[in-house]
Amino acid sequence: MSNDLEFFRHEVLSALAEVTNIRAWDTLRINILGKSGKLTARLKALGGLAPDVRKEQGKALNLLRDELTHCFEARKRVLEKLAIEARLQAERVDVSLPPPPCLVGELSGTIHPINRTTEEISVIFGAMGFSVAEGPDIETDWHNFSALNTPDHHPARTDHDTFYLPQQTPARSTSEQNNTHSLGMCLLRTQTSGVQIRTLLSQEPPLRIIAPGRVYRADHDATHSPMFHQCEGLVIEQGITLSHLKGCLTDFLRAFFDRPNLPVRFRSSYFPFTEPSLEVDIGWSRKTGEIGKGEGWLEVLGAGMVHVRVLANCGLDPRVWQGFAFGMGIERLTMLKNGISDVRSFYENDIRWLRHYGANPFEAVL
Ligand code: DAH
Repeated sequence: MSNDLEFFRHEVLSALAEVTNIRAWDTLRINILGKSGKLTARLKALGGLAPDVRKEQGKALNLLRDELTHCFEARKRVLEKLAIEARLQAERVDVSLPPPPCLVGELSGTIHPINRTTEEISVIFGAMGFSVAEGPDIETDWHNFSALNTPDHHPARTDHDTFYLPQQTPARSTSEQNNTHSLGMCLLRTQTSGVQIRTLLSQEPPLRIIAPGRVYRADHDATHSPMFHQCEGLVIEQGITLSHLKGCLTDFLRAFFDRPNLPVRFRSSYFPFTEPSLEVDIGWSRKTGEIGKGEGWLEVLGAGMVHVRVLANCGLDPRVWQGFAFGMGIERLTMLKNGISDVRSFYENDIRWLRHYGANPFEAVL
């Protein structure tokens, strides 16, 4: 390469290294490689040279053009990367920053009462060492009923109560494939209790879980919706007794309703998956509707000691492991806490209702 060309190359590469943004890069590129650029002019000038000189210089110029084109592209990629990094720095959002007080009043979004109640339940049980488990809304007959010791003739199994799906082969996990039982038909789960089974099959005890989620039943009036929310609870440890159940649920209800002296009553009941089974009531006033006062009782949840057959269905030895379970309706708890009388209002999305009953997203959950 001639001295003159070497000098030109050096000049271009130094200028390119000093370019710090895409606009300056493009100006330089046009200035060198564009139609009227300096390198292009040198290429055009080749035509006026003697053939042997032209051949030699043409080769050198073409090589230089390829090299410069390559260097321009490489520099462009670096500049683009730098531009993105600078933007990310400049536009970083501090999500932990509370909004200025003048803005809080302007914000119209609220947390839906169902979600807020779910958060509250999770916070209270979280403090007692529970973690959150999940299961599918489309469940198998085996998880929703059979494994929970529900007899074949149980009325909940009829299609008056349960939404069955058209017959199909349900997806099976490896542990289920190894089991010999038939998973039966698919259905929309009628209770979150099936998550007990899924958890027991997939986790080793000891365990404490709650499982909030949607459930479905063929029911529709002011106090029933075909889709509603439940929260299941399950504790499996060694040496668990009914006293643990009573203490745990009493603490939960007093924290949830924010009444340290809330009267809590345990009544014997029946659920296929617990033995003994209990229904849990809280004190309230029939006259004023006030919770924690007065002579009346309101049922708020179902509970019991996990049935030995449920433990055995999940491969646990009932002589080693014991536990308790409970289930509550999230709408019901929310209605009681907030004085809401019609369950349908939860799903109508009336903006005035949501503003009134929704929670401030910036307030601590409890
Ligand atoms: N699954 C019951 C229902 O839907 C609620 C329930 C009752 C859940 C007792 C439990 C329990 O885990 O122990 O009505």
